Amino acid sequence: MKATTILAGLLSSVTLFAGVAGAADLSIVSGDTGNGLEFLRGQLNRFEEHTGHTVTIVPMPSSTTDQFGQYRLWLAAGNTDIDVYQTDVIWAPQLADQFLDLTEAAADVVDEHFPAIIESQTVDGRLVALPAFTDAPALYYRTDLLEKYGKDVPTTWAELEATAAEVMEAERAAGNADMWGFVFQGNAYEGLTCDALEWVMSNGGGQIVEPDGTISINNPRAAAAIERAAGWVGTIAPEGVLAYMEEESRGVWQLGNAVFMRNWPYAYSLGNGADSAIAGNFDVAPLPMGDGEGARSAATLGGWNVAVSKYSQNPDAAIELALFLSSAEVQKERAISQSNLPTIQALYDDADIAEAQPIIPRWKEVFENSVPRPSAPTKTDYNEVSSLFWGAVHETLSGNGSAAENLEILEIDLEDLRGNGW
Ligand code: GLC
Repeated sequence: MKATTILAGLLSSVTLFAGVAGAADLSIVSGDTGNGLEFLRGQLNRFEEHTGHTVTIVPMPSSTTDQFGQYRLWLAAGNTDIDVYQTDVIWAPQLADQFLDLTEAAADVVDEHFPAIIESQTVDGRLVALPAFTDAPALYYRTDLLEKYGKDVPTTWAELEATAAEVMEAERAAGNADMWGFVFQGNAYEGLTCDALEWVMSNGGGQIVEPDGTISINNPRAAAAIERAAGWVGTIAPEGVLAYMEEESRGVWQLGNAVFMRNWPYAYSLGNGADSAIAGNFDVAPLPMGDGEGARSAATLGGWNVAVSKYSQNPDAAIELALFLSSAEVQKERAISQSNLPTIQALYDDADIAEAQPIIPRWKEVFENSVPRPSAPTKTDYNEVSSLFWGAVHETLSGNGSAAENLEILEIDLEDLRGNGW
């Protein structure tokens, strides 16, 4: 990576933001994972230097569910302390009324981004957040271990189970008592909705609530997929996976104690970091698929954006900050240092990015085929829909009822919630 070239590009573009009259004190909330906050601080320092504004980070827990709960309360109370929010891709329809419309401010740059992402952040014709990065998960696997035991990268969940079990047992017998086959996000929160949507969708079981609003989750393919995952807990995955979010999975993986991991691209650069036990000994593949009709590899669409609170007392400076954080220059740096997927199409052809983080050009296709969670059709009810879903899945993973039983109850609860329409 040619850091100096990137820096030069960044500085020349930042001058665009310079010279605005009146320095403002801004606050941004962020619940980033890994070393995301450190990265953000570095970018904000540049922004401060070139605009004269100051920006304070208000750190938040990394659970998107916890962040959402807090932000919804703050925004409902008209909180003027926070100017800029980092927002999950699923929140736009629920928080749209509390954010400024950025359509005009972003008019010159909006076409650089993938249209589907801009669309996901557009509610009733208002662009309520600007994309910072997109997300589509990977199956992380240990190249050294698969090679040692002569195994192929699994393309189905059945293959993953068999290989995970075999390699785990062999490694334990060879002395690593802490070895596990597969780690993922099994805690009761939004991350489990992402993982379980992949299990269901990859088994031909639909997407919980379909784009037309139909509640589809109570079906045998969905039940079979969730039942299969319940069989992983305590066998190829530790019991503790029921409390894992992204960072706990990454912790086990990065210590060298898992053959496979489901996680987002941010774990790629960290896995190759100086303090990682597995640097250079892993690669990524699309997530496995189920079996039977409609089976396919499925990746849940994730991603983060930047929104400006309508209660900000410095809206112009806050908009400048949102534009800066979603700009091609910052996205390029983010891709190189954090292995986060850009939302700017041209960056997938960028040689510096490809060299620093080969996952990025490879992941364009995974992103393009990713499956959105049903936040658009369920609108302001999405969080409730998702929490009912992850609740039913978590019960099943914990051994409280079969998947079929829990999905039947879930369907009734979703119908109640929907009433006469979303
Ligand atoms: C990642 C995704 C986000 C998702 C979250 C779940 O941060 O980008 O969209 O909601 O994981 O834990």
